[in-house]
Amino acid sequence: RPRILSGMQPTHDSLHLGNYLGAQVNWVAMQEEFDAFFCVVDQHALTVSPDPAQMRQRTRVTAAQYLAGGIDPEKSTVFVQSHVPEHSQLAWVLSCITGFGEAARMTQFKDKSSKRGSEATNVGLFTYPILMAADILLYDATAVPVGEDQRQHLELTRDLAGRFNTRYGDTFVIPEPHIPSETAKIMSLADPLAKMSKSADNQSGNLMMLDEPKANIKKIKAAVTDTDNEVRWAPETKPGIANLLRIHAALSGEPVADIVARFEGPNRYGALKGEVADLVVEVQAPFKARVEELLADPGELDAILAKGADRAREVAGGVLARAYDAVGFLPAR
Ligand code: TYM
Repeated sequence: RPRILSGMQPTHDSLHLGNYLGAQVNWVAMQEEFDAFFCVVDQHALTVSPDPAQMRQRTRVTAAQYLAGGIDPEKSTVFVQSHVPEHSQLAWVLSCITGFGEAARMTQFKDKSSKRGSEATNVGLFTYPILMAADILLYDATAVPVGEDQRQHLELTRDLAGRFNTRYGDTFVIPEPHIPSETAKIMSLADPLAKMSKSADNQSGNLMMLDEPKANIKKIKAAVTDTDNEVRWAPETKPGIANLLRIHAALSGEPVADIVARFEGPNRYGALKGEVADLVVEVQAPFKARVEELLADPGELDAILAKGADRAREVAGGVLARAYDAVGFLPAR
């Protein structure tokens, strides 16, 4: 079976609906067809230097959310990045074929470093996409299911794989991004022109999967829309309504045109928001309950992660050996 790999950073106490719809739903669908690897990228999270106890806790919470969202550890490999040292090992090799300017052009790096200033920006943030490329290339992944915000990092990964293959001979599989357009960019409810984001200053636009349903209902009722008062599909002029319609369609499976038709007439924003709130709570409640169950006795979760790391190392070890050999590293024995 062809392989896929994806991952999320354990940077927060809960995933938001953008992570869930933009990535996780596709992971769950794809695990049926692919030999799937889902990684909790704790080394990436270290770039924002969380407190160590929080790092441990959030790594488990993130893994628990993978499972609660429908990743089946019998079908897919779920593991923690730092458990598989091959990721950092390959990242070094890839960093030696990455141009400084090429890395400096990454828009996420530019955004983050300009917000912090160069003194507060660590080198890990700069080399972050190279580690991400290693995550992907180590598994010969043919596809990478992510949201739109990861597209540029995927392009860098493809460039690096191609460059390595040209320079050292065929070593890596060149991965395709898998970014289904309907859910690729879920927007903030507070500012429908900005994506829903863990690092947003205004968290009132984020629907958190592990928050109390009450809190999410409140945010949905308060979602920014427009004064035109008619439910129509017009993403350019009515981005707030378009976002609600996208979320509705993704969760209900109902085509946008059908939803719009049901809400014809003036003053139906409240009713649309009511349905969206019901749909969100419907997925969120069992999700949250399952996460709580998994965390209550983390033994089972830790065992899944240990087994996942073993399986990941088997694959990653083989690919790393290929790359080490290609660049001419002398075998250790
Ligand atoms: P992260 O942790 O920021 O986000 C996890 C996933 O959620 C998607 N996503 C969204 N999708 C739709 N709408 C949104 N508003 C939204 N916000 C986030 C992201 O695109 C992502 O798929 N660099 C990655 C983590 C990573 C990775 C990898 C991913 C490290 N190594 C290897 C794939 C393969 C990141 O920061 O994701």
